[in-house]
Amino acid sequence: MDRITKAARLMIVSDLDHTMVDHHDHENMSLLRFNALWESNYRHDSLLVFSTGRSPILYKQLRKEKPMLTPDITILSVGTEITFGNSMLPDDGWVEILNQKWDRNIVTEETSKFPELTLQAETEQRPHKVSFYVDKTKAQVVMKDLSDCLKKRGLDVKIIYSGGMDLDILPQGAGKGQALAYLLKKFKTEGILPVNTLVCGDSGNDAELFSIPDVYGVMVSNAQEELLLWHAENAKGNPNIIHAKERCAAGIIEAIGHFNLGSNSSPRDVADFVECKVDHVNPGYEVVKFYLFYERWRRGEADNCETSIASLKASCDPSATIVFPSGAEKTLHECIHTMKERYGDQKGKQFRVWVDSVLSTPISSSKWLVKFDKWELSGNERCCCVTTAKINAKGSDASEGYTWMNVQQKWLEGYEMKDDSTWTF
Ligand code: GLC
Ligand code: MG
Repeated sequence: MDRITKAARLMIVSDLDHTMVDHHDHENMSLLRFNALWESNYRHDSLLVFSTGRSPILYKQLRKEKPMLTPDITILSVGTEITFGNSMLPDDGWVEILNQKWDRNIVTEETSKFPELTLQAETEQRPHKVSFYVDKTKAQVVMKDLSDCLKKRGLDVKIIYSGGMDLDILPQGAGKGQALAYLLKKFKTEGILPVNTLVCGDSGNDAELFSIPDVYGVMVSNAQEELLLWHAENAKGNPNIIHAKERCAAGIIEAIGHFNLGSNSSPRDVADFVECKVDHVNPGYEVVKFYLFYERWRRGEADNCETSIASLKASCDPSATIVFPSGAEKTLHECIHTMKERYGDQKGKQFRVWVDSVLSTPISSSKWLVKFDKWELSGNERCCCVTTAKINAKGSDASEGYTWMNVQQKWLEGYEMKDDSTWTF
């Protein structure tokens, strides 16, 4: 992938269900806080890796349900599939490694002899992963017997129990930990080993992530018994692994702070941007801040005062224009005027705005072309504009902030807004 050409300042390798994504948080607040932190402070020089037990099908489904960012690398099906970028280009080298000493047919043949095992959905059966459900009380015995059985058939497999119900059978060399080790080795060969790596998880299939050398680790506060037990038996004295006080993505942010891996202050935790001065600003921060203010304005949470409008106006060149997906064009100052009239029109409703994949390319020492996906959730409708903005630094080092010079938007296919009369930016 062409974006991975320099050593990442931070590589976050995170599980999804009950780690990055909190299924008990219907407002998705901790995820949105993490997103804002990542896009404003890390996207430009760090790597986001999702490592999930889900197959590509269930992973894509989750992305539709939750406001998730696009990771640089996706590790799927409990470390048996590695893909790169938004297009999810598979790593063929990894497939070849896993093909060694693996015979799926023997696994299905032997497991059919265990009535305690219930096969999971067809989508979750993958070339290098056979998955079942098994009752918690029977899991240990079944795992032992199954392992003996498969050994007798000459197969070296890995059996993993997660979430007190899922049993996965994989090639011995597979798993989330091995997949990460493979990536780290690749980066090392290319001379771009990340400066810091933080692994994040909550359940049994995440345990091996925590045994990879030289990584920091966070078990989120809501971690499963099986992971905590694994930790107590295998990694108790390791100061580089913590059990967070906070749930899910909030626990990841907590760990960034605990291990001093960079900023742990999400723009979503900043109440007033006019007052707040940030040390290391970058165009990504400006984009996050701009759209967060817009969300707060429509939700009726921002200060409805002339100062905040004046400050927003000051960050847009008077002649700056926006070209909407429809082709219509307005000045940004006109849009701010329209926005003023919409104060609080989304109050009490489900309304969220977030940006994904914010990437800036310098056009000169103080000018950037910034590309990002702008998402807007309103009620049950989710829409997205692929956006390009020209943003200039005020002053030579952006100490005075940024000026938006122009914006262009196109609907992301499948995420067009049905009635776009309230689309403002
Ligand atoms: C995900 C997968 C499932 C797997 C489980 C634990 O839920 O969909 O197949 O068993 O993770 O790894
Ligand atoms: Mg999980």
